[in-house]
Amino acid sequence: MSSGLFLSFEGVEGGGKSTQLRRLEQHLRDRGYPVTVNIEPGGTAIGKQIRRILLDAAHGHLSPVAELLLFFASRAQAVDEVIRPALAAGHIVLSDRYTDSTLVYQGVARGLGASVVRTLETVACRGVGPRLTLVLDMDVEAGLARARARNSQAAHSETRLDDESLDFHRKVRRAYHDLSAEEPARVILVNAAQHPDAVFVDILQRVEPLLAPLSLPAASLE
Ligand code: TYD
Repeated sequence: MSSGLFLSFEGVEGGGKSTQLRRLEQHLRDRGYPVTVNIEPGGTAIGKQIRRILLDAAHGHLSPVAELLLFFASRAQAVDEVIRPALAAGHIVLSDRYTDSTLVYQGVARGLGASVVRTLETVACRGVGPRLTLVLDMDVEAGLARARARNSQAAHSETRLDDESLDFHRKVRRAYHDLSAEEPARVILVNAAQHPDAVFVDILQRVEPLLAPLSLPAASLE
């Protein structure tokens, strides 16, 4: 149906996924590929408003089911407005988190169950999902320390999920490992404790084989 390529980045807090995503974006653009970036939650104007509700540290009383539906609401908007059109136009779509986040955070760590996540996925995503998912994996305590240092510097209030217990974040990490064992061809664990340059080498090694079948726009082939 689509001619593009959908890649997602996932991982525990502080694993550096957003930095690596930007690096890959630049690398691919330099090589002439058209790239579209989606950020979840919040890849659209409507999604940004939903993000504010979801991540505001003052919303400690947000119900788990409301949280689940809001993540999918943001995603459904991004699928229609950003991801589907970009794939149809032959772009490489890089998504900073996608449904795997909902599966591990809400489905497993929050305990809502995988089946409800899968059901909502069919409604919200309608078959649009990543070909490859890079999970930036590291020890959760080290990752949280990085994330909290960053949060305190920027003095922002988007910390509702970072503020969850260590046990919650350990469940998230374990769930990513389980997912990778279930879908080894798609979900790849990348050691995020390495130097960022080494992390990027690992990422490129996984992405490279998927680029060959993509046709570059004519101008960039000259
Ligand atoms: P993100 O902006 O990626 O934050 P970070 O860079 O700190 O990881 O994600 C915000 C938070 O939202 C993060 O704690 C993970 C959580 N999240 C979910 O719980 N479910 C979801 O479906 C998504 C997309 C994110």
